Amino acid sequence: MSLLANPFRNRVVNGDCTEVMRQMAPGSVDFILTDPPYLVNYHARDGQTVANDNNPDWLEPAFREMHRVLKDGSFCISFYGWNKVDLFMHAWRKAGFRIVGHLVFPKAYASSVRFLKSQHEQAYLLAKGDAALPATPLSDVIDWSYTGNRLHPTQKPVSVLRPFIDTFCQPGGVVLDPFCGSGSTLVAASAARRDYVGIELEVRHCRTAQLRLHS
Ligand SMILES: C[S@@+](CC[C@H](N)C(=O)[O-])C[C@H]1O[C@@H](n2cnc3c(N)ncnc32)[C@H](O)[C@@H]1O
Repeated sequence: MSLLANPFRNRVVNGDCTEVMRQMAPGSVDFILTDPPYLVNYHARDGQTVANDNNPDWLEPAFREMHRVLKDGSFCISFYGWNKVDLFMHAWRKAGFRIVGHLVFPKAYASSVRFLKSQHEQAYLLAKGDAALPATPLSDVIDWSYTGNRLHPTQKPVSVLRPFIDTFCQPGGVVLDPFCGSGSTLVAASAARRDYVGIELEVRHCRTAQLRLHS
């Protein structure tokens, strides 16, 4: 893949992901692994919030661009907020993705308690076009590991992300995370010797991701 087709290869780009992806060529990434805002108006115990977690305006344009920049026959894994699944599902289908799997990540602890104790994360496996079956399929139930959210209020564990990169992106391929936060996906991609493109709206999270990748 030439630098012209993907000028952001191995970079963490600060900006709105829809705008940034518009500058990327069609089919210029091999796998998308992303953790967008869950649309739950999240407030951490220390008062930190997640940008765009209080409005769905970005959802359809962002997934439309993700589908465009992804290579045909490739995959996208997207975490999502379970109580906004209708909005996410509509955006994924409208963008052209096929829904090919669902992942559940049981947690040993409850992240909140209301009618039920919230003890799992969740993600969908989406495909663009006619994607081949993996040689060694992963389980769709994967134990979670707590990060402590020291680098980002909703930090994902690198150890949980890494097997997805090994399975769904060939060596030498490019992994995109358009909502990269502190860069957990990018750190996993780099450890797996894949190239990455990270996009993040908040400068402070971009800096954290860059520090993690270059330390
Ligand atoms: C759920 S967090 C991702 C956390 C990440 N997985 C980690 O381990 O650090 C979602 C991130 O998307 C960012 N974000 C929200 N809207 C965005 C947009 N339009 N473009 C780029 N980033 C955005 C937020 O600032 C936030 O850091």
